[in-house]
Amino acid sequence: MKPTQSLYPYFPLQVRKTKGIWIYGADGKKYLDTFSGIGVSLLGHQHPGILRAMRKKMRTCLHLSNFFQDSDLDDCVSQLSELSGLHGQVLFTNSGAEANEWALKIVKKTFSGQPLKILHFDGSFHGRTTGTLSINGHPEQRSPFEPLLADTVLLPWNDLNSLDNWMEKHGQATGALFLEFIQGTGGVRVLSEEMAQRIRFWQSKFHFYMVADEIQTGLGRTGSVFAFQQYGLIPDILTLGKGLGGGLPLGAVVVNPSLSSSIKPCDHGSTMAPNPIALAGCKVVLSTIPALAEQVSQRQETVRLWLDTELHHVAREIRGKGYMIGIDMGTPLPALVKKAYEQHQLLLNIVQGQVIRLLPPLNISMKDWQRIILTLRKTLGGAS
Ligand SMILES: Cc1ncc(COP(=O)(O)O)c(C=O)c1O
Repeated sequence: MKPTQSLYPYFPLQVRKTKGIWIYGADGKKYLDTFSGIGVSLLGHQHPGILRAMRKKMRTCLHLSNFFQDSDLDDCVSQLSELSGLHGQVLFTNSGAEANEWALKIVKKTFSGQPLKILHFDGSFHGRTTGTLSINGHPEQRSPFEPLLADTVLLPWNDLNSLDNWMEKHGQATGALFLEFIQGTGGVRVLSEEMAQRIRFWQSKFHFYMVADEIQTGLGRTGSVFAFQQYGLIPDILTLGKGLGGGLPLGAVVVNPSLSSSIKPCDHGSTMAPNPIALAGCKVVLSTIPALAEQVSQRQETVRLWLDTELHHVAREIRGKGYMIGIDMGTPLPALVKKAYEQHQLLLNIVQGQVIRLLPPLNISMKDWQRIILTLRKTLGGAS
């Protein structure tokens, strides 16, 4: 049998170089990247500031382990505390899933010996480890691996009645709620303002822990540094990943001070995390994000107007916040990625089979936004 890496469908593209929103192929063509390595390259491919910081750090070491001090680590901890307003502990991981694993462990430890129910929503995606699959709202992803953690409860997305019913009967036993403010893998589905208010109401009554998974929505993506800042919900635990390490693997768990006391050395650990080069990138990302989030917030309306104008005749719905946008075509799109790639040199990412997910870099120019939208229009066809 031929050895193969067969878990992912991939573009038949040998990458020669990358820059900004462009990926250059060995075939001599350049491709317009609309999803930045699934939202990782927040400042575009090969950002000079990130490269400079990483190259400089590489002259010191590639890896040290957490037996040593690193001033970048201290700076990243301070920046994350400052930006999130959660002034407890910051713990680094190698990925988003590992950050959520860590969050699950903190919740379980805090409730050890007491009844604990952990809520999550249908369509939720928090990673693919066995812990995070336990709070995964996609039956096809989790069912092959069941039984998983026993204490989790699935509620319908944006459904006030179901939340009320659950809380009226089991509010006391509810220990935590894992929440994406916009479900990315779930189809770019936005948490409604009413649902946020109701979560706030029940949280103030039963004091369950709010775990905000901002692995995709965080770091400026939705037009604020963190999406929770737009909803008036203060998380007890915030999980981060994707672009945090400037393109290298890095996740983080930011914990509020009241929970920090239950965390002891060796409750979690990693040989690799945090990688020192990723921390050097993280420092640049974190210092750049506040201004970029502001810019995303200012430009998002114009971008939405352009999208609506050019695509309203083909799309069922265009939704999202900031630069996390879902174009729901209302019908499965099995051939679209290939067509966009082959005929228009446009790289697309589709979630839930029918939603084109746009996650461009936050520093994308308005000219490049126009380029993406017009190429999309050509690809999707039809005159407006
Ligand atoms: C909201 C959310 N949580 C968790 C994860 C898992 O992150 P990772 O793939 O780094 O493990 C993802 C990845 O797409 C995500 O979007």
